[in-house]
Amino acid sequence: MLPFITLLSIDKTSNQPVYLQIANNVVNIIREGQIKPGTMLPGTRELARLLNIHRKTAIAAYDELYAQSWIEVVPRKGARIAQNLPDLQPQRWNEPRLSSYGNMLAAPFYRIETHTNIPSGPVLRRPDFIIDEGYPDSRLAPLDLLNRAYRSRAKQNTVWKWMPGSLAGGSPLLRTALVGYLLESRGLDIQDHHTLITHGAQMSIYIAASLLLKPGDAVIVADPSYFLANKVFESLGARLVRVPVDGYGMDMDAVEQACKKNQINALYVIPHHHHPTTVTLSPERRMRLLELSRRFDFTIIEDDYDYEFHYNSAPFLPLASSQHDGRVIYIGSFSKSIAPSVRVGFMIAPADFIRQAIQLRMMIDLRGDHILEDALAELIHNGDIGRYLKKANKAYFERRDHLCLVLETELKGIVDFDKPSGGMALWARFNKDYPLIRVADAAAAKGLLISRGFRNHGNLRDDNSIRMGFASLEINEMNAAIEILTGVLKPKI
Ligand SMILES: Cc1ncc(COP(=O)(O)O)c(C=O)c1O
Repeated sequence: MLPFITLLSIDKTSNQPVYLQIANNVVNIIREGQIKPGTMLPGTRELARLLNIHRKTAIAAYDELYAQSWIEVVPRKGARIAQNLPDLQPQRWNEPRLSSYGNMLAAPFYRIETHTNIPSGPVLRRPDFIIDEGYPDSRLAPLDLLNRAYRSRAKQNTVWKWMPGSLAGGSPLLRTALVGYLLESRGLDIQDHHTLITHGAQMSIYIAASLLLKPGDAVIVADPSYFLANKVFESLGARLVRVPVDGYGMDMDAVEQACKKNQINALYVIPHHHHPTTVTLSPERRMRLLELSRRFDFTIIEDDYDYEFHYNSAPFLPLASSQHDGRVIYIGSFSKSIAPSVRVGFMIAPADFIRQAIQLRMMIDLRGDHILEDALAELIHNGDIGRYLKKANKAYFERRDHLCLVLETELKGIVDFDKPSGGMALWARFNKDYPLIRVADAAAAKGLLISRGFRNHGNLRDDNSIRMGFASLEINEMNAAIEILTGVLKPKI
């Protein structure tokens, strides 16, 4: 037995837990034929002593081997290597095996046109810096607190929660916390049954659109607009009716004209920091939009993904918090306010709509991550999210101003922009002499990842513009990123 023990090596610096290292080692030794079926193994106490490990670790290693059928227990004697080993000989084939998974499915299937804004050609290196399209800085977010809350909840026995159908609307704790949070932050007067928790805002857009739109229906969107919402509408067979967007948001005269010419079923609006151009819908236009939705009888999908960050003044209250007679479906997301990895979004709608939305959500995804949702509820309840948002607002305010300053001083005449009143990105219009596809590829070769332009998102317009995110970069990182960009743009490429 002892020679066998000497073959076991433990690497305490490895990320792999020690019990798994032991179990894997034992399996390898068996496979190599160095230990035969039926060989008795030391007891767990003895193994722990010989390997200088905790007895619990030895027990866990044997449990693992037992679960995989590599060892068996002989009553009153102890554990031994199993007589019938699970997979001593990997199956061999006489003929070279052809995988059934080539490139093509045998039958034709629905194809989704793909777009990419990631540089192509010379991206051979991992980027040193990324100017993203407007993501929060996860380093400022209370992710440690969230992790701690997650860990302690994950250990609780909540098996009753996973019964089929239960909790598909989201964790009750989060739904309740959301009611308070939305009342305080945006004056929304709702109850738990008006809420649905989704996997990010994107799932809310998909569910709302699926319930509202049939093939041939018309939906008004801004031009340009958030490309992945457009894709959802189009994939449902809806017709996009595009209206211009200016410095005050969607043009309401154009909306009215569109309503006169078409039977409109829904309108998709991004009222704070429109995607992509980052403008905020003015209060007058909000009022007018509500009036038009009553007059022409359409539902508004209000995607307020970027509500939390505003710098010059308080944000405008959502359309959803005005009197709208059940015409507004409101959508938001913690993936934008906390961190992209926190994929928790929400939909607010009349109770009957939410009931149907829950049914649809269940078809896509039985339920969300309730442990994460409960943990998030705890942080909202304790005020951690509110405190973090204050801190992030201050940091992003400075970062926005800094990016505006360096663009003005370093890239005047090449990059034009309007300072956004909030959000995490500005809309940078590049001089046409500097085609963004070439700029992005040249920057990537120097270690800076930057979007190739909104044309690549499937937008119809080729206006040589991109969203430049400022929130996720500290000032020194931003300086370094802009230095690379400046190096690429001057001298002219
Ligand atoms: C306007 C807009 N709505 C919705 C989403 C999707 O948000 P989430 O990441 O929460 O799914 C995005 C993502 O970038 C967005 O820009």
